[in-house]
Order: sequence, then C-alpha cells, then structure tokens
Amino acid sequence: MTLALDSIILPDIHPDAPITVRKAKLSDIDAIHALIGYWAARGQMLVRSRTLLSENIRDFQLALAGPLEEMPGGLAGVCGLHMLAPDLAEVRGLAIHPAMQGRGLGKTLVEACEREAREIDLPALFAWTYQQGFFEKCGFTRIEKTNLHPKVWSECQRCAFFENCNEIAMYRTLD
Ligand SMILES: CC(C)(COP(=O)(O)OP(=O)(O)OC[C@H]1O[C@@H](n2cnc3c(N)ncnc32)[C@H](O)[C@@H]1OP(=O)(O)O)[C@@H](O)C(=O)NCCC(=O)NCCS
Repeated sequence: MTLALDSIILPDIHPDAPITVRKAKLSDIDAIHALIGYWAARGQMLVRSRTLLSENIRDFQLALAGPLEEMPGGLAGVCGLHMLAPDLAEVRGLAIHPAMQGRGLGKTLVEACEREAREIDLPALFAWTYQQGFFEKCGFTRIEKTNLHPKVWSECQRCAFFENCNEIAMYRTLD
C-alpha cells in the first residue's frame, strides 16, 4: 500500500516501529529525494536534486522506522547539517514522513545534527524555515534577515521564491 500524494508516492511506515538514527548512505538517495520532494511539492521546503543530495550525502542524518514487510528500512525523517563557514553551519533538508509527524522525530534529528556540530567545535547553527515554533522548541531564535552571513543565501538563487521570500531566519548559539 502507498500514500498517493500528487506526483510523489511515499511508502507506508509502521507508526509503532522502533526508530534508528544513522548517517545517510548513497543507497538512501531515492528515499531522501522522495521525502524532501513530497514537502517541496507542498511549498514547505526547497526541492533538492539527486545530484545535489549525492554531493552532500555526508551532511544527512536519517531516522529509519522499522519495516513493513514490503518496504524494509522505511525513511521516517531526514535532516542535514551543511557547513557554510568556519563558524557557521546550516540545518537544512529537514523532512519528516507525514505519518510520523508529532512524535519527536524532527527534534531528534535536529539534536543529532547539533551533536555533530558540537563534536567539531562549531559555535553556531542557522536555519531557513516556515516552522518558527518548531525551531524555537529546538533552541533556535528568530533573527532579522539584515546582516546575515552572506553564505546563508547560497541556495536561494535556485528557489522559486527568491524575489519574494517569506522564510524565517533562525539562529542558535552552541555553548
Ligand atoms: C516541521 C517538522 C520538521 C517537525 O517535525 P516533527 O517530528 O513533526 O516535530 P517534533 O514532534 O519533533 O516536535 C518537537 C516540538 O516542536 C513542536 N512543533 C512541531 N511542529 C511545530 C510547528 N509547526 N509549530 C510549532 N511547534 C511545533 C512540537 O509540538 C514539539 O513540542 P514539545 O517538545 O513541546 O512536545 C515536520 O512536521 C515536517 O517535516 N514538516 C514538513 C517539512 C518542513 O516544514 N520542514 C522544515 C523545513 S526547515
């Protein structure tokens, strides 16, 4: 069985399956592409090509749900940590399977990225989002779009809303 969602079809995930968090592999790219594409088609995030995902595969943490028989290793969520500058990385490409929202997975994945950031002594995180409340729960604070680090605009030129951007800039200092 599948969830038919516009042109993107996501595999079902068993809602009560145990969750494993691990780094992404190249073999995960189709599943990541579909999950991000599902939310991009709904205007919630920027679409990312398979090529871009493969170039940045080491950025991504995955939450894997226990399998239904026909779909082993279902992808419950994905989140990336992308270096922007020596003192700043972006939390990007965060997407939770629609059947798995509201179970703490988004926060778990952001925390996994935060742990990685701390391991390399990174002092701060940045995110673009429409989900201000969620990022506030993850310890981020909204900041004005003026005087942002120039690298935070790096993906904006391939966004359809470049000229009319409503995304919110969020920032978190890591002590
Ligand atoms: C936004 C999203 C990542 C949140 O993930 P999630 O797994 O559903 O959220 P969690 O269950 O981890 O929520 C953690 C906390 O944030 C809160 N929260 C979640 N979404 C929220 C929202 N949109 N607004 C305000 N608070 C929110 C939860 O209530 C929870 O609070 P608590 O700790 O007090 O219980 C997920 O819904 C999603 O993938 N949305 C579509 C794609 C998207 O918008 N991605 C973000 C692009 S930057």
